[in-house]
Amino acid sequence: MTGGAGFIGSAMSAALADSFDRVVAVDNLHPQIHPSASRPDSLDPRVELVVGDVTIPETWDALLADVTPEVVVHLAAETGTGQSLDESTRHASVNVVGTTQMLDAFTRHGVLPRRIVLSSSRAVYGEGAWLSDAGDVLYPPQRTRETLEDGQWDFAGATATAMDARTVFPAPVSVYGATKLAQENILQVWCRSRGVEAVVLRLQNVYGPGQSLINPYTGIMSLFCRMAKAGRSIPLYEDGAVRRDFVLIDDVARALHLGATVEHAPAGPVDIGSGEDQTIATAAELIARYYDAPAPHVTGQFREGDVRHAWADVSVAEAALGWTPQYDLKTGIDRLAGWIDTQPLPPLA
Ligand SMILES: NC(=O)c1ccc[n+]([C@@H]2O[C@H](COP(=O)([O-])OP(=O)(O)OC[C@H]3O[C@@H](n4cnc5c(N)ncnc54)[C@H](O)[C@@H]3O)[C@@H](O)[C@H]2O)c1
Repeated sequence: MTGGAGFIGSAMSAALADSFDRVVAVDNLHPQIHPSASRPDSLDPRVELVVGDVTIPETWDALLADVTPEVVVHLAAETGTGQSLDESTRHASVNVVGTTQMLDAFTRHGVLPRRIVLSSSRAVYGEGAWLSDAGDVLYPPQRTRETLEDGQWDFAGATATAMDARTVFPAPVSVYGATKLAQENILQVWCRSRGVEAVVLRLQNVYGPGQSLINPYTGIMSLFCRMAKAGRSIPLYEDGAVRRDFVLIDDVARALHLGATVEHAPAGPVDIGSGEDQTIATAAELIARYYDAPAPHVTGQFREGDVRHAWADVSVAEAALGWTPQYDLKTGIDRLAGWIDTQPLPPLA
């Protein structure tokens, strides 16, 4: 597992340790995620943690001298959608070059894993495919600072559709999304050429117990919880009607575990979501209610790189992995908030 000490890696670590004789997590304990630079308690004790940077060849040389991986779950990434516009080299370096360094190291050491599982992202779709009122499929252009400053949130005369790898082409609108698509493409090409199975899961917005409480660039749900818990009204970007597919970490960990263990690797990318799309306002209202906080309010602010609507069609996941999401938003928020209530919280900005 790369990036195995992170939110998703820790959550799937016990299941991986149950399924494989030896599980090794390579992770540089990135300070934005791991301020104390120590092994997270949530990482299963059976998992060996190797502290190392996936972009550095020596990390791989040392690792592959000791380990011959049968299955690789590649999670290590820089994940700040908005941040990636200002720090594109950092995102490209870890997400793209980190992947190529891993693959080159396998070649250098003559190691061919049977399967490589990639946690890709719905960010590869950008705004996704929309349906015009006349019934035509269209791919809306990237929303610019000017259009957003004008409050043009939606694409007039068109309706968003579910993200589905069978029918919707990738068209990223953030540097992060572009690096995740590059990761996918590089992995697919390399794996096809070497006869290695590539399993690509495109995850929607993952949330739940264990998510970062300190990373200001990801984790809108934990931020909303902290605001409501502090008695604040949650600020809603745009007009509050932005739609997202919030999928609970337990469901995601199970999907990735199946990606690593299912007998037949799915042929193409698999979309992973909760099976329901919700507005940001609905999520915020549920959180406000949990904490008895004032009602959320619309601010009209926006973040460049954010898409208007995103949700997944999960039927391929059901057919290819035998996976269906188990948790609805209300249950997930109760789980997240219940966990946050047990955590020491850094002060809110
Ligand atoms: N959380 C989500 O909503 C979401 C959605 C779609 C896709 N994903 C993808 O899932 C994967 C895991 O995401 P997460 O939510 O667990 O993020 P996370 O930030 O909690 O975990 C990523 C881990 O990678 C490590 N890492 C970062 N740079 C590294 C480097 N150069 N070398 C080694 N390790 C490094 C970090 O220390 C961290 O432990 C990522 O590939 C991300 O793109 C996440």
